[in-house]
Amino acid sequence: MANTKRQILVTNALPYANGPIHIGHMLGYIQADIWVRYQKMRGHDCHFVCADDAHGTPIMLKAQQLGISPEAMIAQMNETHQADFADFAIGFDNYHSTHSEENRQLSNQIYLANRAAGHIESRIISQAYDPVKEMFLPDRFIRGECPKCDAADQYGDSCEVCGSTYDPTELKNPVSAVSGATPITKESEHYFFKLGNFESLLREWIQGDHLQAEVGRKLNEWFDSGLQDWDISRDAPYFGFEIPDAPNKFFYVWLDAPIGYLASFKNYCDRSGVDFDEFMRADSPTEMVHFIGKDIIYFHALFWPAMLKGAGFRLPNRIYAHGFLTVDGKKMSKSRGTFIKARTYLNHLNPEYLRYYFAAKLNNTIEDIDLNLEDFQNRINADLVGKVVNIASRCAGFINKRFAGQLSSSLADETLFKQFTDQTESIAKRYDQREFAQAMRDIMALADKANQYIDEQKPWVLAKEEGKDAEVQAVCSMGINLFRLLIAYLKPVLPRTAEQAEAFLNIAPLQWADLATPLLGHTIAAFKPLMTRVEQEKIDAIIEESKENMTATVAPAQAATNIEPVAEEIQFDDFAKIDLRIAKIVNAEHVEGADKLLKLTLDIGLDNRQVFAGIKSAYAPEDLIGKLTVMVANLAPRKMRFGLSEGMVLAAGPGGKDLFILNPDAGALPGMRVK
Ligand code: MSP
Ligand code: ZN
Repeated sequence: MANTKRQILVTNALPYANGPIHIGHMLGYIQADIWVRYQKMRGHDCHFVCADDAHGTPIMLKAQQLGISPEAMIAQMNETHQADFADFAIGFDNYHSTHSEENRQLSNQIYLANRAAGHIESRIISQAYDPVKEMFLPDRFIRGECPKCDAADQYGDSCEVCGSTYDPTELKNPVSAVSGATPITKESEHYFFKLGNFESLLREWIQGDHLQAEVGRKLNEWFDSGLQDWDISRDAPYFGFEIPDAPNKFFYVWLDAPIGYLASFKNYCDRSGVDFDEFMRADSPTEMVHFIGKDIIYFHALFWPAMLKGAGFRLPNRIYAHGFLTVDGKKMSKSRGTFIKARTYLNHLNPEYLRYYFAAKLNNTIEDIDLNLEDFQNRINADLVGKVVNIASRCAGFINKRFAGQLSSSLADETLFKQFTDQTESIAKRYDQREFAQAMRDIMALADKANQYIDEQKPWVLAKEEGKDAEVQAVCSMGINLFRLLIAYLKPVLPRTAEQAEAFLNIAPLQWADLATPLLGHTIAAFKPLMTRVEQEKIDAIIEESKENMTATVAPAQAATNIEPVAEEIQFDDFAKIDLRIAKIVNAEHVEGADKLLKLTLDIGLDNRQVFAGIKSAYAPEDLIGKLTVMVANLAPRKMRFGLSEGMVLAAGPGGKDLFILNPDAGALPGMRVK
């Protein structure tokens, strides 16, 4: 492979800012990250950027439901998403938001350039409108009976029972999912992007080497049914960017979403000194590569190149689509516990296991990928723990104990070493072509060879024989050198394990160009176990936690985005009825047979109350005794399985260990009223 330095901008589809990252999303991010890490190891300039997709009706409504501003919600979500990605070792060079100044400017620029070139048109259309909420309703927010099969409670655009698609106006007895009102039809002026103007450009572009063959075939079908104008405006209220010269009209979220790639890149360029304009000009020699899921091909392979062309920018070089993740052969499901959030996985297992498993299954097609949990466990234990890490642990002890960490000064088996380095280019090519599953198979075949070598040489037998010291050192040094190559080949997939291995090998970060040179006469550091087996209990715990109620399991940073809606309004009189008192916790103890409860004895000055509080996950009894808290003193006593509960303590937090009982400042005395 010619090693001229490539300049590549890589993006992965931007996650919506109205929900947590799940392992289905992770498939794409991990695929893109492996590709980027490979390119970087190869010495190329690769810029990997992403952002939250923060606009649109669902995000606006979700924030309203939570009783917070959309800005506050997306800021929280951005933080949570970034934490999830960082913990999965996704090495973004920049993570931004589509609700950013860069994106507003670029969206305006691209829109205005297209308008000036005659690619924008406006006309009046009729649309479903919620007369109570006073907003136009996207199809997904209208529910009613299917016009074909009469199934109740179907979406405005398609029926989940019979699978037919239709126009929202055909739905029987439609209601707005936002207010429950019956939608009316209302006219409004909309702006359209004239995709048809780009037909010949797109036909030609699709013939080029920009798409997977199967994706190209799919696009040809769309051409055959004709390229429709694309509605790019939405009426207020809408969370997005207002369209220039069109008050109260906003860009549809899918207009500014892909521009968000450029906004994040611009934000990064301004910080890092990369030349944005040079990168984006029409005949730039640099590359732009988008990783996406197969559900959003239309936006990326038709609208996006057309918009860029209309604005005089460069086009994407490659759009790499991937399939969808299933778990144990089925769509991820909350009731089965297979709708696994990234954070839930991280709470129990090493992220590199999932990275490896995805790599072992990914190829460059848009076939769906199945996470079979039993296969996952077996494969990690057999491949990573049993084959790869094992080589180091079999050899390191001898080198460290008997030879003060020093490797021998020549290779015991040059032929075998060469068999490993001979594959450097072919494995590289697999990575570059996103044939990760084949790369993993090739690497594991080498790992088998390395283990076979050690099995045959039996250093543990040699070690007991007189005068075989040099041989023990040579065999184990050979093993360590093979391990070094395996880890280098796996580094794009297992960046953290590779980093620990580099520390153990006492070497600079592994680069593709250095692989042919073995470590000779070199001193290694002490070996620490790099990975442990996947235990069944861990997988069970993930499934269990995924079945649980959403609010009970979220991490603190996520909590604010899972805030329950504010409860029904009450009057001041209702509030005044609640007698809140400072209480001293004079005793706290476990309750036999209760998972969540602690039994508290509370002194409120007048008398002592016995209260059962569900705070065991957050507090040990001994941490509470002697502390002050706040209780509802006039709650009717309630008979519980474990005894009478005479009041409640106030607590805040998402649950689990993040539950905080209110702890008033010193100076408060038991019995004081709290207002
Ligand atoms: N916000 C849009 C993308 C805008 S890109 C300019 C969007 N967001 S998403 O959150 O729904 O999806 C983000 C990415 O995750 C997409 O590439 C999508 O295809 C992918 N996936 C979502 N669920 C998935 C699986 N179950 N399996 C694999 N990928 C999945 O679409
Ligand atoms: Zn139907």
